[in-house]
Amino acid sequence: VDLDSILNIDEIEEVATKNISNKAWAYYYSAGDDLASKKLNNTVYRQILLRPRIFVDCTKCDTSTSFIGHKVKLPIYVSPAAMARLAHPDGEWGIAQACEQYGAMQVISQNASMTPEQIVADAKDGQVFGWQLYIQTEIAKSEAMLARMKKLPAIKFICLTLDAPVPGKREHDERSKNVGANLPIKAAVQEDASVSKTSSDAKTPSPPKNMGVGQSLFWGTAADLTWKTTLPWLAQHTDLPIVLKGIQTHEDAYLASLHAPQVKAIILSNHGGRALDTAPPAVHTLLEIRKYCPEVFDRIEVWVDGGIKRGTDVVKALCLGARGVGVGRAALFGLGAGGKEGVARVLESE
Ligand code: FNR
Repeated sequence: VDLDSILNIDEIEEVATKNISNKAWAYYYSAGDDLASKKLNNTVYRQILLRPRIFVDCTKCDTSTSFIGHKVKLPIYVSPAAMARLAHPDGEWGIAQACEQYGAMQVISQNASMTPEQIVADAKDGQVFGWQLYIQTEIAKSEAMLARMKKLPAIKFICLTLDAPVPGKREHDERSKNVGANLPIKAAVQEDASVSKTSSDAKTPSPPKNMGVGQSLFWGTAADLTWKTTLPWLAQHTDLPIVLKGIQTHEDAYLASLHAPQVKAIILSNHGGRALDTAPPAVHTLLEIRKYCPEVFDRIEVWVDGGIKRGTDVVKALCLGARGVGVGRAALFGLGAGGKEGVARVLESE
């Protein structure tokens, strides 16, 4: 397929669906239960209307902005999403290449199919990355990963994901668990010897065979994180700023803002509808924050993700107070449609 003939994210998804395995498709596409949150994440933007003003000079447009002090050329970043190599051998490195081309930020998933070192290997000066953490029950593993990030200057912050203490019930993914070849579904960073060797406590038992991809990846993730214990622990193990991902209420946005300056940003997200179905889309949480605790916007940056497919979606989120927006599936499907060039096409089409 000629990538130039693809005009929007839905078409990218269509092309990718034909190119990638059924199992990979099911993993990327899937979301919790009835997909209510996943669908609403996108349709909510169709319900918000713009109010275009006239007599505004539009000859010069500047899309550049900054995320927690780091300059970028787009307010769109690539969200942490696992297993990009299921879509294309370019994988997360390919996403990094496309981000470099467009001056966009990339948040690397802990469950990436390539190691963080491989992903940032060809990073240019000024290219901005974050690294996403799921705290493990074998805490020494998480500590080792954080130590490793200290050696990668391209990584500017730690993004702690909090909306999925347990994985959602993703039926597409579950149904495809016995279909097709077994995929290499172990996160590259976890396979790496420098992580697995450090753990002296009892090893987490291996996941049962034939789980869906999502369930297998979540195996070993801690479900006992708290405001009281987790952030102080994190402060001991990293000097990087913290971004909390998966805030879904104004109450938690407010509590997060009390942890500035350690916490520099929050990401309003329901995990692309993949965790708790019927959790609110980020737009609803943005509106709640505006109503009940607008001071949050002064204390920390507020980023959003979920369902972003159009440039107008981005504009609406920014108008409502978001600093920037993340895209998850679109980047993965971009890879599936055409490797790194496909991801570039996604950034171009938004
Ligand atoms: C994700 N997401 C995710 N989030 C995270 O913090 N760590 C992860 O490893 C993953 N993995 C992952 C895999 C796949 C296949 C998808 C689709 C999503 C969630 C992701 O960061 C983001 O919140 C959503 O993808 C945003 O919604 P859209 O853009 O996919 O609609």
